[in-house]
Amino acid sequence: MAEVIVLESPAAAGAFVAAHIAAEVRARPEFTLGVATGSTPLPVYEGLRAQAAAGTDFARITAFALDEYVGLPAGHPESYRAVVDREVTVPLGLDPARVNVPDGALDGIETAGDRYEAALAAHGGVDLQLLGIGTTGHIGFNEPGSSFGSLTRVKTLTERTREDNARFFDSIDQVPIHCVTQGLGTILRARHLVLLAFGEGKAEALAAAVEGPVSASMPGSAIQLHPRVTVVVDPAAASRL
Ligand code: GLP
Repeated sequence: MAEVIVLESPAAAGAFVAAHIAAEVRARPEFTLGVATGSTPLPVYEGLRAQAAAGTDFARITAFALDEYVGLPAGHPESYRAVVDREVTVPLGLDPARVNVPDGALDGIETAGDRYEAALAAHGGVDLQLLGIGTTGHIGFNEPGSSFGSLTRVKTLTERTREDNARFFDSIDQVPIHCVTQGLGTILRARHLVLLAFGEGKAEALAAAVEGPVSASMPGSAIQLHPRVTVVVDPAAASRL
């Protein structure tokens, strides 16, 4: 089973993961961080800001985001490019040229997945991938039924995920229907997976991912195939383990 660390709060979990990332960044000439969006990783980014304030230099790291919505206007505040810029790139002083997000523009969307895979391969992959988990069990935007071998590609969001994410938009009608997401196969290539989950609403999906059968109907269960996984949760999210 994955290593599971239960900490008293999201803030404590974020500080813990951020301290680990900062130590790795200080110890190596190069470090590649896989960033996730949604509300779950925000305490980690807060922790990283504290590490930056305490002197860790993040300017040399490279970042790859998990996913992006398709078809949002350039600069839309809820595009994952904008979220990553706001939460990670700017406050941590990353070099924008080293921050990669899948291209969700409609123009050229048919090659967006291949282009992202090529960028990942040319760079040499991800050292540590942050992951949240959706209530459907999705990681990235790999909804139930996604192949464990899948690579970055366009997918359709489930109605449940669009409802979950409607809080970031004025109404559900504005939530895009499609996304470009790293595949489960892409995610499994990262050298270390750190899955975070907070709150009772995630307890069921978390238990299924960590302890349930490995199945394409529970995309999060793909983490069980990876040799180095750390699961960092609060007591509510751990309540079904
Ligand atoms: C989002 C993201 C995922 C995220 C998940 C959970 O839609 N694409 O990367 O892990 O759904 O979101 P949250 O962290 O807001 O609960």
